Amino acid sequence: MSDVLYVRGGRPLNGSVRVHGAKNSALPILAAALLAPGTSVIRNCPPLSDVEASLAILRHLGCSVRQEGDAVTVDASSPVRCDVPDALMREMRSSVIFLGAILGRMGEAELSYPGGCELGPRPIDLHRKAIQALGGTIQDAGGHLRCSGRLVGREIVLGRPSVGATENAMLAAVAAAGTTVLCNAAREPEIVDLQTFLRSMGASVRGAGSSVVVIEGGRPLHGGEHTVMGDRIVACTYLAAAAAAGGDMTVTGVDPRHLSPVTSVLAEAGCAVRSEEDRVRLTALAPLSGSRPIHTAPYPGFPTDAQPPLMAALAKGTGTTLFVENIFESRYRHVDELVRMGADIRVEGRVAVVCGVPGLHGAAVEASDLRGGAALVVAALGARGESRIGGLRHLDRGYWRLEQALRDLGAAVERTGTRA
Ligand code: UD1
Repeated sequence: MSDVLYVRGGRPLNGSVRVHGAKNSALPILAAALLAPGTSVIRNCPPLSDVEASLAILRHLGCSVRQEGDAVTVDASSPVRCDVPDALMREMRSSVIFLGAILGRMGEAELSYPGGCELGPRPIDLHRKAIQALGGTIQDAGGHLRCSGRLVGREIVLGRPSVGATENAMLAAVAAAGTTVLCNAAREPEIVDLQTFLRSMGASVRGAGSSVVVIEGGRPLHGGEHTVMGDRIVACTYLAAAAAAGGDMTVTGVDPRHLSPVTSVLAEAGCAVRSEEDRVRLTALAPLSGSRPIHTAPYPGFPTDAQPPLMAALAKGTGTTLFVENIFESRYRHVDELVRMGADIRVEGRVAVVCGVPGLHGAAVEASDLRGGAALVVAALGARGESRIGGLRHLDRGYWRLEQALRDLGAAVERTGTRA
């Protein structure tokens, strides 16, 4: 029987919580470790299931990998394979991020197409175009991609600022001979983190964080060392939980600037928010009022990954908030579950209208994706009575030691695979 999370809501969350390293930083950084014929050390790399899937891919390719807590050592001295088996691709959709690194290191790569996911179709056309622009050839046999070619740097203009395609192009470009100028690049902080790691390996990369990234490829690389940035989405989830449940919480280990599109919404909804160097303190003063419309957008806009937990917080309160989901097609699967808990939310295409209600109540609900699962936890913490949350494998992809952290903050949370 798979694990279930029981949450008895209505207790305020007080105290301090340190967020773990960012999953979305760790994954491309682990792929990047393949590029250097040496040993890389990556710290603050939490043993989430998506990280484990990346490590399984590295092992399959012939790297030796050691994990001690949240520190990972990858010895990529002599990889022997260039394929990612279908089972590993299915385990983690974002394993397509290995395409640029494998091709760059081995001169060929074989991956199956990642297909759709819980959030809707997951096209990889931009990844493919970027690799092809650098001289890689891609043969597609029924969703099985065979890539090869000697990569050469050049200008690439992405059709949209895709995070994954930006990272894939950077990894391939580091191995390509000559200069690559990547235009309309995504500007997410995780891309800056990848740049920092690549530099520690001896690569020449500049511009990450802006929409033009310049890579002087073909430099000799060596193993790198890096501490992964704090997870801004995990931080937003904890802050949303405090806003929903009440209390006075400080989230540490993050750059508050990365959170400002979200903390500004929480402040507008009535929370007192104070940011310092590496922390954000949130005090919930009264029932949340609504906020201005929330449109998800590429960074520095409101992150799509924070939409579900913020919606869960704003479902209880006195105001109405309009959400417009612009990044993924199917990102409201948590709504029906929130409605089971008493929320008043209507969805029409990409728009969700959230009318705050005075209180939510506990219910048996099922997570169907990672951040949607986080939304259910946030709602349950602020609800009256007990909730039973299933589908925890989704949460385990992105939250490490969640129950313990919530308990330390005063929540009544129990995870079990045995209780009926
Ligand atoms: C990354 C994050 C994910 C986050 C998302 C948007 C990781 C591991 N995951 O996902 O948590 O929700 O950014 O901030 O970092 N698209 C195409 N063609 C492509 C690639 C993307 O059309 O080749 C579209 C996608 O369908 C989506 C949009 O572009 O509508 C943004 O996707 P992208 O930025 O690529 O997200 P991911 O890198 O997959």
